[in-house]
Amino acid sequence: MRPPVAPPLPLALLTAGALMAAAPAPGARAARILALFPTPSISHQLPFQVVMKELAARGHQVTVISPDPLKEPVANYTDIDLSFSYEILRNVKMADMEGMSGVKQMEVFLPVMHEIADAQLTSPQIQDFLRNNASQGYDLVFLEWLMYQAYFGIVHAVGAPPLVGIVSLGGFAVTYNAIGNPNNPAYNPEILSGNSDRMTFWERLQNTYSSLYLTALWNFKVFPQQETLMRKHFGEAPPSVYETEYNMSLLILNNHWTLEYPRALLPNVLQLTGLHVREETRPLPADLQAWLDGAEQGVVYFSLGSNVMSKDLPPEKLQAILRALARLPQRVLWKFENDELPGRPPNVRVAKWLPQQDILAHPNVRVFITQGGLQSFQEAVYHAVPLLGIPFIGDQPFNVAKMAAAGVGERLPLADLTEDSLLAALRRLLHDPASRERMRRFSGVYREHKARSLETALWWVEYVLRHEGAPHLRAASLRLAWYELLLLDVAAAVALAALAALLLAAFALRRLWRALRPSTAPAHHARLRKDQ
Ligand SMILES: *[C@@H]1O[C@H](CO)[C@@H](O)[C@H](O)[C@H]1NC(C)=O
Ligand SMILES: *[C@@H]1O[C@H](CO)[C@@H](O)[C@H](O)[C@H]1NC(C)=O
Ligand SMILES: *[C@@H]1O[C@H](CO)[C@@H](O)[C@H](O)[C@H]1NC(C)=O
Repeated sequence: MRPPVAPPLPLALLTAGALMAAAPAPGARAARILALFPTPSISHQLPFQVVMKELAARGHQVTVISPDPLKEPVANYTDIDLSFSYEILRNVKMADMEGMSGVKQMEVFLPVMHEIADAQLTSPQIQDFLRNNASQGYDLVFLEWLMYQAYFGIVHAVGAPPLVGIVSLGGFAVTYNAIGNPNNPAYNPEILSGNSDRMTFWERLQNTYSSLYLTALWNFKVFPQQETLMRKHFGEAPPSVYETEYNMSLLILNNHWTLEYPRALLPNVLQLTGLHVREETRPLPADLQAWLDGAEQGVVYFSLGSNVMSKDLPPEKLQAILRALARLPQRVLWKFENDELPGRPPNVRVAKWLPQQDILAHPNVRVFITQGGLQSFQEAVYHAVPLLGIPFIGDQPFNVAKMAAAGVGERLPLADLTEDSLLAALRRLLHDPASRERMRRFSGVYREHKARSLETALWWVEYVLRHEGAPHLRAASLRLAWYELLLLDVAAAVALAALAALLLAAFALRRLWRALRPSTAPAHHARLRKDQ
């Protein structure tokens, strides 16, 4: 049994507060809010939906353009359905990208994302919206802040209201650049680099390279492509993407220092966490509940999330995993996407879909084998389940590095995964009371911040509405050229001044020397000159 995590005191109060406040905060009238969330990935969309639903519940009129319309529609919330976009992403097999550098993955994803953006902007759904609804105008626009600058065309079509950037992950170098937030690669690990905040020289070098590479990729590839795409769909009317990119009123990141690392943040940058994590558990299917209840030695829960498929693992790795799991006295519950799992040991149960949060809430679940997706990390920490991370793509190596750095999990790259290494790692996690205790404390801190996240988001969004934008929060760093921001011009001026002072001193010393040198010397020199 896992020890219970102390619920943070204000949790119940805050929840009640959020429910009672089913009206806009004083001063914020019911607003018209448009949300543009292009990425076809439910793990991106879930936290966004939580924020948009809460805004609708407070009486704002919300229109969400995304590939994931709500399964159960709610009042004041209109979906524009772009679910066709999932077809385009289906061609990318994410399990094959394991071992590819973050930088390389970006190069695989960029053309796919471009294709998705082009298809969405061409779709009758968005075209109808632009024709029939854009002229009504909106008070605020949310945009998923990735490589979607062509959507600035929609922002301008609805009257260029204040812009809120939101991402389902933490920030990349380019996300921080967009709002002028400091990002120091010496101790701020780049998500794509998979480093923690304690870096060796080589890791800092690699981390700096990742930040610079991403910045260059955005400047030389993403922005020009998106500018062209925006012109294709919106003509000459909107200002260039370079202007709107740096015009955010608020940036909402869905990762938090509890699951990342402490860093400097401007007042218009929010770190939220666990928006999609439910505080109440829902009943499990009766047979699953009985099976979990009956696991006297505990349960290992195994899921590689919604993007990486267990069924796509290399056959020899699959066999190694099956042999290791067969040697455990624990029961194992595995999200596996095929009906058949040949060689499945009797203690292993598979299902194509599993209610993950409610399973993690079960007290018999003792270890979670995960690909290290952020949403899974958040759910596991909320329920204080130690982790075994097998990272594949995107931010997964970064999240797994944090699990290991915080001592709440272990990292096992697929390349190192054998029957013995998996078994050894699982046994350590199952039998080491210290990692469970660290996870319990970690979870307590995390829960306290998670409990405030939604309320914080709503307060800041309504703050932007009340003040019709937040130009007063914008850092002057946005006005500076890169060499001014790095103070290279100042450093150059100081270096020049120092050099000038040195030269001047040398010159003066020479003059002084000449003036004071023994009187025989000038005679000697004069003689020499006369001889020439
Ligand atoms: C929808 O918004 C209106 C105000 O615009 C509000 O009166 C109503 O309570 C909201 N409905 C729900 C179900 O939240
Ligand atoms: C767009 O306009 C049409 C026609 O006025 C209306 O029926 C529809 O509800 C509007 N959709 C949105 C998302 O506002
Ligand atoms: C920047 O945002 C403001 C509203 O907050 C808007 O009036 C202005 O047109 C926007 N500028 C650009 C270039 O997007």
